[in-house]
Amino acid sequence: MSTPIPRPRGVPILGNIFDVDPSNTWWSLKTLAEKYGEIFQIKVLGHSIVFVASAALAEEICDEKRFRKYVGGPIVEIRYTVHDALFTAFDHEESWGIAHRIIAPQLSPEVVAGHFSDIVECTDELIRKWHGIGPDTKIKPLDDLNRLNLEAITLTLFGKKLNCIEGPAHPMLQAMEDSTSEAMKRPTRPKLLNWLVYGSKFKKATKTMRDFAAELVKARKEHPSDRHDLLWTLLNATDPETGKTLTDSQVIDEIVSMPIGSSTAPCAIAAAIHFLLQNPEALVKARDELDEVVGDGPFRQEHVPRLEYVAAIVRETLRLSCAAPGFNIEPIPKQGDKSPVLLGGGKYQVAHNQPMIIVLAGVNRDPAVFEEPLAFRPERMMGESFERLPAGVKKWFGNGKRQCIGRHWAWEFLVVVTAKLIRDVDFEAVDKEYVMKQDGWFNVRPVEHYVKVRPRVAH
Ligand code: HEM
Repeated sequence: MSTPIPRPRGVPILGNIFDVDPSNTWWSLKTLAEKYGEIFQIKVLGHSIVFVASAALAEEICDEKRFRKYVGGPIVEIRYTVHDALFTAFDHEESWGIAHRIIAPQLSPEVVAGHFSDIVECTDELIRKWHGIGPDTKIKPLDDLNRLNLEAITLTLFGKKLNCIEGPAHPMLQAMEDSTSEAMKRPTRPKLLNWLVYGSKFKKATKTMRDFAAELVKARKEHPSDRHDLLWTLLNATDPETGKTLTDSQVIDEIVSMPIGSSTAPCAIAAAIHFLLQNPEALVKARDELDEVVGDGPFRQEHVPRLEYVAAIVRETLRLSCAAPGFNIEPIPKQGDKSPVLLGGGKYQVAHNQPMIIVLAGVNRDPAVFEEPLAFRPERMMGESFERLPAGVKKWFGNGKRQCIGRHWAWEFLVVVTAKLIRDVDFEAVDKEYVMKQDGWFNVRPVEHYVKVRPRVAH
C-alpha cells in the first residue's frame, strides 16, 4: 500500500488556487515544502502537480532511465519568445540536439577560462562605480549585478561592449523581467485574459529581446571579425551529427536564451553578499585565502581553481539561495503502459504522465542530509565533505542532458566576481536585522535588500 501524497485542503472546484501566490510562486512552494516535507501535491482547475522536496526523492526522479525534463507551464509559454531553443525544446524536437552539439563546445571549461579577463574588466567597472558613489548611499546590489551580468555575457559570448553598468538601465533588463513574469503568470490566468489584457506586454518584451539579438547579428555580419566566440559559432558552425546549421530565427532564439539563463548568476551573488554580511568569519577566511593565493599582484585565471574557500562560498550560496529555484520532471512514457509510477521504493505512487517539480528550497535544506540546514557553512562544500554529499543536493544546475549548458560560464563568473568583490569592497548592511525574503520568476533574488559599499580599506 502506498502512502497518499499530502495536499493542502483547498477549495471546491478551484482546488489549491489560494495556496500558491501567482506573484511569488516559489516562495509559496518553499512554504509548502516546509509544511509538508518530502513530497506534496496541488490541484488547480483539475490539473495536478506533484512537488518533490527531499534529497532522496530528487535523486530518484533525476534518474534519466526513468524520468526526463517536463516541458510544460511557463516553459511552454516562453516558447512565444524563443521557440524550440535549448531551454524550451520538447524532448522529441530534433532542434535540441542540433543546438546542443553546436553550442556546448563554446561553453566548455577551457573556453570560458578564456573569458576571465573580460569578466574581470566588467567587474572592475562595477567596482569603480561602487567606489565612486559614496559610503552613505544605499544601493540594491542586485540591480547593479544584473547590469554586470548582461554586460559580461554580451561581451564574452557575442563580442559586444554594451557599456550598461553606468547610465540608464538597458532595455533588455526590463524585457527579461516582463517576459519571464508573464511566462510564469500566464498558465494561472484564463486564456482570453492573457490574450486581451497581457498579450501586448509579452509581445513588446519579446520584440525588445529579439531586436537586441538581431542587432548583434547584423553588427557582426556588417563587421566580420576573427573572434571565434559563441556568436560566430551560432552563425557558422555545423552540427557534427546531422550536418545541419541553425536557421536565422534559431540563432536569435539561442542568443535571447543566454541572457535569460545567465540572469540567475547575479541573483546568487546578491544572496552571497547577504550571507557574507551575516557570517563575517567566512568573509575573513575568504580574504585570507585571497591574500595567500592572489596576494598584492594582479588576479589571474590560474588563481581561480586554487580559490577553494571562495568556491565553497559560491556552492553554499547556490545551496541556500536556490537562485534557480527548481526544475520540472516527468516519467518517460512507455508505449501502451499507463500503470502508475512508484517512488521511494513504492512508498508513493504517481500517474504515468505526472508532471513533477523539484523544489530546491526543500531539497537543498533537507535535514536528513544537512546538520543545521539553514546555517551558512562553506566548509561543508569543501573537499571530502562536498564529495560525500548525495547527488540530490547538488542539482543547482539541473540534471542530466538538460542540465545548465551555461554552468561553466556561470561558475567562472560566480567565482571571479565573488572573489573580486570580497577583495575590493567593504559592504555594510543597511538593515542589520534584514531577514532574506526572495521573489522572482525563472530565478529568485533577495527582496528589498539594501547595502552600503565602500572601497576596502585594508588589503
Ligand atoms: C548561477 C547560475 C545558473 C544557474 C543556477 C542555472 C541553473 C539552470 C538549471 C537548473 C537549468 C535546468 C532547467 C530545466 O531543467 O528546465 C538550466 C538550464 C539552462 N541554462 Fe542555466 N543556470 C545558470 C546560469 C546560466 C548561464 C550563465 C547560462 C548561459 C550562458 C545559462 C543557460 C542555460 C540554458 C540555455 C539552459 C537550457 C539547457 C538545456 O535544456 O539544454 N544558465 N540552468
